[in-house]
Amino acid sequence: MNDMTNQKDFWKKELMDLAAMQLDFPVTDSDISIMSSEIDDIPNEHWYWCTFRESYLICLYGNEDVNNKKDMYWLPWAKDCTKIKELCDSFIFPMTDVRPRIIIIRTMPGMKMRLHTDCYADQMEKLEPKLRLVLKGRDNTLFYVNEQQEHIHIPNDWRGYLMSGAALHGMDNETEEKYTLCWGDPWTGDDLNNDRFFDYIKIQYEKHNESAIRISSLGNVDHASGIKNPNVEKIYSWEEWHGHKNS
Ligand SMILES: [Fe+2]
Repeated sequence: MNDMTNQKDFWKKELMDLAAMQLDFPVTDSDISIMSSEIDDIPNEHWYWCTFRESYLICLYGNEDVNNKKDMYWLPWAKDCTKIKELCDSFIFPMTDVRPRIIIIRTMPGMKMRLHTDCYADQMEKLEPKLRLVLKGRDNTLFYVNEQQEHIHIPNDWRGYLMSGAALHGMDNETEEKYTLCWGDPWTGDDLNNDRFFDYIKIQYEKHNESAIRISSLGNVDHASGIKNPNVEKIYSWEEWHGHKNS
């Protein structure tokens, strides 16, 4: 093994132990509020309800079939999301060799996202970093669970963060509507072979690792209890879900 392989193995282990770590994104508060209004302008009919996460979702970059990871593109309702596309073209896509699916998770006040793990059993031991940017909702309501069943919340001042889907997490939204911009699957960090991502994450780690939430610090938690079950997970269109609730 050469030095670079050793170095990458070290970093993979470090990143895999991060439940969440703050990230700096090259965006201003004004950019964030423009991106948030771009999402406000999309009609509700394009949103989905996800029974697994118990939250609304909209896919901006991807396709109609969550299992088709090859032919992804900007979906028609994202056509006016100029600011979001700029951020992806200038910052995200150059550091992800495999382009991530891009979704927004939307929760309303009073909604509680159920405790879950964002991956299947075979992915729990793999590097699967996910990038998040909160566009709306000042209170960061996302939390991890520790051995004592306490909720370890992501601090309110984190706008951007790296998260692992392999640790049990949930969300209690008590105050205001929240949009979280998400980049994830099928991108799984390219095994740290993209230098732009590798360099970025090393700089971010230097700055933010002390305030990170580590999976090892959560103690003995049964993260696998929140694994996705494809037989149970269902996605309903806005219309189906709201029709279903009214009937
Ligand atoms: Fe999640």
